Amino acid sequence: MSRLAELKIGIVGGGNMAAALIGGLIERGARASAIELAEPDEGARARLVGRYAIHAHPAVNAALGHCDAVILAVKPQHVHGASGELRVHRGSGVVVSIAAGIRSVDLARWLAPGVPIVRAMPNTPALIGQGISGLFAAPGVTPDERAIAAELLGAVGTTVWVDDEALLDVVTAVSGSGPAYFFYFMEALEDAAVRLGMARDAARLLAVQTCAGAAGLALQSGEPLASLRERVTSKGGTTFAGLEHLRLHQVAPAISGAVTAATDRARELGVEFGRD
Ligand SMILES: NC(=O)c1ccc[n+]([C@@H]2O[C@H](COP(=O)([O-])OP(=O)(O)OC[C@H]3O[C@@H](n4cnc5c(N)ncnc54)[C@H](OP(=O)(O)O)[C@@H]3O)[C@@H](O)[C@H]2O)c1
Repeated sequence: MSRLAELKIGIVGGGNMAAALIGGLIERGARASAIELAEPDEGARARLVGRYAIHAHPAVNAALGHCDAVILAVKPQHVHGASGELRVHRGSGVVVSIAAGIRSVDLARWLAPGVPIVRAMPNTPALIGQGISGLFAAPGVTPDERAIAAELLGAVGTTVWVDDEALLDVVTAVSGSGPAYFFYFMEALEDAAVRLGMARDAARLLAVQTCAGAAGLALQSGEPLASLRERVTSKGGTTFAGLEHLRLHQVAPAISGAVTAATDRARELGVEFGRD
């Protein structure tokens, strides 16, 4: 049973992710009047207040300090500054940071020792309620605070807990960056269809709906992905010919390398932004 209706929720930063979260939270039962947003840009504040009738403030203030949970939704380079503001006004609620790369030790240093911190890594399909977020709870976070964090991110999609903070870099590389890999793959499929004579609109639809349909099938069946692939790959057939070409060109190792490169970059960014 969702407790969203009982929670006072603070949000620092009123950008894309915050807008998606606010929409999802209200849709799932959170009270708009119990959402306190801090966002310096007057236009952004006005847009979100106009659309959702939440409370908005130009900076972090006591209203956010009284919240059961505060979501930090600013760009990584602004987390240090925003944490400093939150340090002054913070109450006892859990802080949920969705900032890419910023480590919980650095957040704790900036927010004050002992603050319950959950890190979350959402992805852009959150904008249509179909995101997936990796979550990590720093030591000392209670089961109740974990449940609150999962409910907040659950408002924009599925959630998965990791018990090692380093794995959030892998989440970043797989599902955070993942939509871009699939756009790249769909783009290539679309271009290939156009090259072979299809109209652009039809080619786009074939590529995108195939991606959505394959994902839907995989989610619904729960079978190993290899079994689903093998079922549509009869030896000597058309799919077989296509997949053989992908194998010959080392596409699977290339994807593995891409995920490793993105994981390494997420780790580097964490070190870079957490330095001061
Ligand atoms: N978008 C994604 O796909 C995605 C996925 C996973 C994680 N994330 C993470 O989510 C975070 C937010 O991303 P976003 O795309 O929503 O960013 P965004 O659109 O740039 O939103 C951040 C907002 O926070 C405001 N802000 C900056 N400093 C502030 C402060 N001290 N107090 C209050 N507000 C402040 C910014 O205002 P100004 O513009 O005036 O600076 C901006 O409006 C990032 O850390 C990102 O890494 C995003």
